[in-house]
Amino acid sequence: MEDVQARHPNPLVVDAGSGNAYLGFIVYELFLKDAQAGELLSIEGRPELTERAKGRAERLHFDRMRFQTAHIDAAQYPERIHVLMALHACDTATDDALVAAIKHGADHVAVVPCCQAEVAAQLKEKKARGPGSMSLLFQHPMHRREFGSHLTNVIRALTLESFGYQVTVTELTGWEHSLKNELILGRRVHRDNRRARLQLQALLAETGVQPRLTRLLGIMPAGAAEGSVPEGPAPEGSGSLTEPGSEGEAAPGAVPGADEREA
Ligand SMILES: C[S@@+](CC[C@H](N)C(=O)[O-])C[C@H]1O[C@@H](n2cnc3c(N)ncnc32)[C@H](O)[C@@H]1O
Repeated sequence: MEDVQARHPNPLVVDAGSGNAYLGFIVYELFLKDAQAGELLSIEGRPELTERAKGRAERLHFDRMRFQTAHIDAAQYPERIHVLMALHACDTATDDALVAAIKHGADHVAVVPCCQAEVAAQLKEKKARGPGSMSLLFQHPMHRREFGSHLTNVIRALTLESFGYQVTVTELTGWEHSLKNELILGRRVHRDNRRARLQLQALLAETGVQPRLTRLLGIMPAGAAEGSVPEGPAPEGSGSLTEPGSEGEAAPGAVPGADEREA
């Protein structure tokens, strides 16, 4: 927050899958209230939660908090997002939040994924490709769930990297408070990172999974025939971040000197 507040006069923070918007209220109280600038946009699919949070914001005179009842993948976003956060956005809603961040050039991303079922289901359908004993890692349903969750988050981190983010994966809080505790932080320092893109494509090919995040962004497994994937259209503008030749260029608004740390 301090970084975007130093660099943008009116930063926009998005809280995707905001529920009661508790996280948004805290961020507003700590960073936006006294700054007299900046907006916080909460996106939540359940209208009763949006209405309740809206009423609370009015009572608190948090005038620069906005609320939208919408699915994360169908919400109306301003052209530019500066910070996107998603705390326990269910299953693939975290992927939708990451797509919004990437499409709208968010400088910073912070997601703590929730329950994850999609990749575990894909692992059940497809045995891992390639040589080795990879499929032994997810023979049992419990292993499949854990491995699927881990693989999902590895793919999320690599996807962010491939779009030029410097990624940190850490714990949100003590494990005694929540088992959904993996915090993925991204800070955009390049337009893209081709090495990470190749690693991601290799991982998709080796594991045989194609999660929603990579489908929506049109990221193909290594060696896939052109046009064979993905389900659903790539979002408008996603290609503009990955054009050949842009690797290593600083992202708009990137932190000076950040280039030296990546790619
Ligand atoms: C586990 S709650 C977390 C709420 C809040 N972020 C928090 O940590 O207190 C997940 C919230 O995401 C919302 N949600 C799930 N999928 C969504 C989607 N695709 N679009 C919008 N909201 C979604 C749910 O309605 C729910 O309120």
